[in-house]
Amino acid sequence: MQNLRLTLKSRPEGKLGSEHFDRVEEDMGPLADGKARVRVVYVSLDPAMRGWVSPDTKSYIPPVQLGETMRSLGVGIVEESKSDGYKVGDWVSGTPGWTKYVDVAPGEISVVPQMDRIEHYMGVLGLPGVTAYQGLVIEGQPKEGETLCVTGAAGSVGSLAGQIGKALGLRVIGIAGTQEKCDWLTKELGFDAALNYKTDDLSKGLAEFAPDGINLHFENVGGAPFKAAFRNMAAHGRMIFCGFISAYNGDIDPDPLDMTTIIRRRLMLKGFTMPDHYASYPMLFSELGKLMMQGKLKYRLHVEEGLENAPVVFNKLFDGSNTGKLVVKVSDL
Ligand SMILES: NC(=O)c1ccc[n+]([C@@H]2O[C@H](COP(=O)([O-])OP(=O)(O)OC[C@H]3O[C@@H](n4cnc5c(N)ncnc54)[C@H](OP(=O)(O)O)[C@@H]3O)[C@@H](O)[C@H]2O)c1
Repeated sequence: MQNLRLTLKSRPEGKLGSEHFDRVEEDMGPLADGKARVRVVYVSLDPAMRGWVSPDTKSYIPPVQLGETMRSLGVGIVEESKSDGYKVGDWVSGTPGWTKYVDVAPGEISVVPQMDRIEHYMGVLGLPGVTAYQGLVIEGQPKEGETLCVTGAAGSVGSLAGQIGKALGLRVIGIAGTQEKCDWLTKELGFDAALNYKTDDLSKGLAEFAPDGINLHFENVGGAPFKAAFRNMAAHGRMIFCGFISAYNGDIDPDPLDMTTIIRRRLMLKGFTMPDHYASYPMLFSELGKLMMQGKLKYRLHVEEGLENAPVVFNKLFDGSNTGKLVVKVSDL
């Protein structure tokens, strides 16, 4: 069986591109005993992958090594099995990498229950959902009636964080980069308000929405949206740092914040990463599944075709041209 995978060839200085990957076409050979052969259906493109190709060894996860298949989350289906852990037709979710096929041993990729759509495992029941729930509920400890601000609000994590906030009785304002995204937040997802950081006066808009300040803030992007929220926090507000995408390509913000605000307003700032919380997955799936079944969590996928296009398509995360969870479709289910 012919496989195609993309391996890391060199580390980017700025944006990721095709030049940083080798295209490896190879015959898979016969499946080894104890393993299963998975055909990948979707691979996930996540902003954190930009960090995974940097040489930083002090991050929460080791860097991808040169010559290795690019690490990525994804879902697939078992096509052949010589393992007790998998049977033909099983749906699996895990970290297959940028590859069309992967041979796995038990424990290397998880079998997931079959539902109406495998896409749920890229959205609500995938990294975006568990990250949003973990950050907002476990780290943020929201209380009914509080005011929540979410940046990157129309993105895969942000849109779910805001909807979970609404389901828990919070007043929610989202900040996003286009009018279409702001309309989606307020008209389809039930956000109370949305601001376009490219055209609106953020400080004015936040002060009008939350005259007593923001109680809980969920940060995804950094830059101007983050700074406007920081300056509009209520006393004893909590800021949860999920992501800071504006800095991932190495851009430096020349306009520092007045950090004494943290003391004057007695703020709590907390970063988190999802891999620290694998043990909570069963609880997170159960809570997210319930909310999804109740129609309280909607998501949209932005699907691109062709594994070989993944390095270029990845940059849509950074110019905002993704509308929903960015994935590459590798094969039909
Ligand atoms: N802590 C964790 O474990 C964890 C897990 C998953 C994701 N994350 C983080 O969560 C954040 C969102 O990830 P996602 O997968 O849901 O991506 P996403 O929000 O679906 O896509 C990224 C979005 O970020 C916005 N953006 C890009 N550059 C920006 C900039 N310079 N200033 C303001 N906005 C910018 C764009 O939306 P606009 O059109 O609105 O600009 C873009 O669509 C990322 O920072 C990611 O690293 C963290």
